[in-house]
Amino acid sequence: MSREGTRIVVLPAADWVSAVAAELAGRLATQPSLRICLPTGDTPSPLYAALVAAEARGAVSFAAATVVMLDEWVGLPPGDPARCDVRLRTELVGRLRTSPAAFVEIDVDGPDHEAAAARHDAAAAGLDLAVLGLGMNGHVGFNEPGSRPDDPTRVVRLAASSREAATARYGATRVPTAGITVGLARILEAGEAWLLVTGERKASILRRALDEPEGRDCPASCLRRHSRLTVFADDAAAGLLPEAVLPK
Ligand code: PGA
Repeated sequence: MSREGTRIVVLPAADWVSAVAAELAGRLATQPSLRICLPTGDTPSPLYAALVAAEARGAVSFAAATVVMLDEWVGLPPGDPARCDVRLRTELVGRLRTSPAAFVEIDVDGPDHEAAAARHDAAAAGLDLAVLGLGMNGHVGFNEPGSRPDDPTRVVRLAASSREAATARYGATRVPTAGITVGLARILEAGEAWLLVTGERKASILRRALDEPEGRDCPASCLRRHSRLTVFADDAAAGLLPEAVLPK
């Protein structure tokens, strides 16, 4: 797959947060009504802290933006600290002086998850920017290995590693039973996609995503189809990328 549309930005770890925050602030300044899909996880947490600080000093505003959640666990009770809605609110949306014009959550508490996924698929249509983390198994959102580039927003079975992450890393009070994720189809049709990757433990899966043939074993590898993909990696995560892939 062509790399023409892929920009790889490698940053010293100490500069990663400020550089990505500045880039996002720039997008919001150019297009205040940005429709942006945001992930949760350990990777974006420090970015959100920086954005909250920047918003407090007037350097960025989400006031006209629409924030659409990337994914959500199914089977965690409302308020569970691992819930993506809880994390996005406590780390970003709820800490802004001026809330985004809209915050589109995924309704996992109603009786019909399929219908909730279909509604979220409609909400994720026409995104300007999809911001994504990279799972250790190559997932983006909950598009787990086996996902297809034309997958819609849907209810998914979680990989065992994702279920474990809920409790082991994010402090969930229960093990989730499933997930709802914006599908690769919506991500690939967004105006832009950003893949955020930090830390040495992601180096090998980032190499798999960017330097080996696209394959359903690694959904992140499908992102190279995107006409405007930016990978923001710190130098530890980029440590295994071959010269041919790195920016000149
Ligand atoms: P992390 O998760 O940012 O917590 O490493 C990324 C992911 O699994 O999507």
